Amino acid sequence: MASKKNTIKLQFNSSRNLAPAPESKSVAKIADKYDLFINGKFEKPSSKKYFNTINPANEEKLSSIAEGNGADVNKAVVAARNAYEKIWKKTSAKERSKYIYRIARMIQERARELAVIETLDGGKSIRESRDFDVPTAANHFFYYAGWADKLEYAFPNRKPQSLGVAGQIIPWNFPLLMAAWKIAPALATGNTVVLKPAETTPLTALKLAEIIQEADLPPGVVNIITGAGATGAALVNHPDINKIAFTGSTDVGKIIQKAIAGTNKKATLELGGKAANIIFDDAPLDQAVEGVINGIFFNQGHVCCAGSRLFVQESVYKIVLQKLKDRMESLIVGDPLDKNTDIGAINSKQQLDVIQKYLKIGQQEGADMFQSSCNIPKKGFYCRPTIFTNVAQSNRIAQEEIFGPVLAIQTFRTEDEAIEKANNTPFGLSAGVWTDKGSKIFNMTSKLRAGVIWANTYNKFDPTSPFGGYKESGFGREGGLHGLEGYLKV
Ligand code: NAI
Ligand code: MG
Repeated sequence: MASKKNTIKLQFNSSRNLAPAPESKSVAKIADKYDLFINGKFEKPSSKKYFNTINPANEEKLSSIAEGNGADVNKAVVAARNAYEKIWKKTSAKERSKYIYRIARMIQERARELAVIETLDGGKSIRESRDFDVPTAANHFFYYAGWADKLEYAFPNRKPQSLGVAGQIIPWNFPLLMAAWKIAPALATGNTVVLKPAETTPLTALKLAEIIQEADLPPGVVNIITGAGATGAALVNHPDINKIAFTGSTDVGKIIQKAIAGTNKKATLELGGKAANIIFDDAPLDQAVEGVINGIFFNQGHVCCAGSRLFVQESVYKIVLQKLKDRMESLIVGDPLDKNTDIGAINSKQQLDVIQKYLKIGQQEGADMFQSSCNIPKKGFYCRPTIFTNVAQSNRIAQEEIFGPVLAIQTFRTEDEAIEKANNTPFGLSAGVWTDKGSKIFNMTSKLRAGVIWANTYNKFDPTSPFGGYKESGFGREGGLHGLEGYLKV
């Protein structure tokens, strides 16, 4: 007879009758306690305080993490300034590039460990951290290593110069990847860094600190300080910071914008989104449905460019809805370390509360809710994939960022109607268009107000492509050649 544990596991996988295939935790070396990474060493926080980071899949504690205060932030900024003036500014571009390549290769070497830790600390499925987060993080370092000694070619006749010290604040949805997005271009352009990871997912950034130490990067070039919002605010408000790079909520983005107004600090803000996927009746429908599923349920919907709204042309609405529901029923929600899992754990209790609040709001607003019928684990933070139909443009579930596996579906008749409805949001980060016709794609992409528009695909990322938004989704671009510019005077 199967043990109790196995029975539960098998139940999670019952929709596809797959036996559990858990990734081993043995590669993940997690210390009981982590200090702040300042000037090339791990240092105790002057607050003497530590907070817990937990595994959202089972609510168990993983480690104690130092809480950096203003004095610690100051120490880190002083270290970054000294490293900038005395070492990094004088290091040749070719040397800088060697260090960045080394970091990239070390991420590849430790890919398995990093993927397991990412999944344990943040709740995302191992398939995703293994196949997307970690390799893409390494690729960002490889890509920007290549640019380091070619900046004059990137900006011909413009004498690009580094800014100095960059303060970087990142969220919990792609912890290692966001650290790579921030650190790689900053180092390639000759800046030094103080990075603050999110409080629920600090572990892979701290592992990256170990890698940076092993790579022999000169002390102080990269400093990593942990803590929550107050630590981030101390970094934003430090007078000796030249650049703030932030990814996170629109609310905090607005606070940061106010805080740095009137200073010389340069800023890049990547904020929220409410992306629309638009399916025309001539689209390859199975492919479109798969893209929509990937767009909203990928990473539990914890994606700023998640396709959280769907617009379907009326003539194919019924069939698309049926295909969508059928596919949702086959999704596996559960243990993020299981290689069969499609949808892992919600990142925190706080985020699960936000999502559940919106599920109630959607129903109160009169929309119809459908959730897949899968079992979800009793312990840990989970949400079934959810869609709402009968949604009105003015409904909060169609206007506000939910940041969970929740899709609001509406219909349209004409191209113009689809454009008007899709653009009716305070955000402008991304969109997806599904049609067989090239001319329709060009018409839509020129009229949709979004920074990134995918055609007949969704959520495709590459270090060479710039990413960023309009309106309340923020400003500045990360990735590609554009991503260098945010860290340079040109
Ligand atoms: P948040 O914006 O509070 O957190 C992001 C980062 O900013 C974390 O490292 C946090 O410690 C830091 N932070 C918080 N307050 C700060 C302040 N006053 N000054 C400087 N740094 C500060 O996001 P939160 O509360 O975790 O999530 C709330 C909502 O934000 C989510 O429901 C989602 O809608 C959105 N979000 C968007 C993300 C994106 O990728 N655009 C990522 C994470 C959340
Ligand atoms: Mg955690």
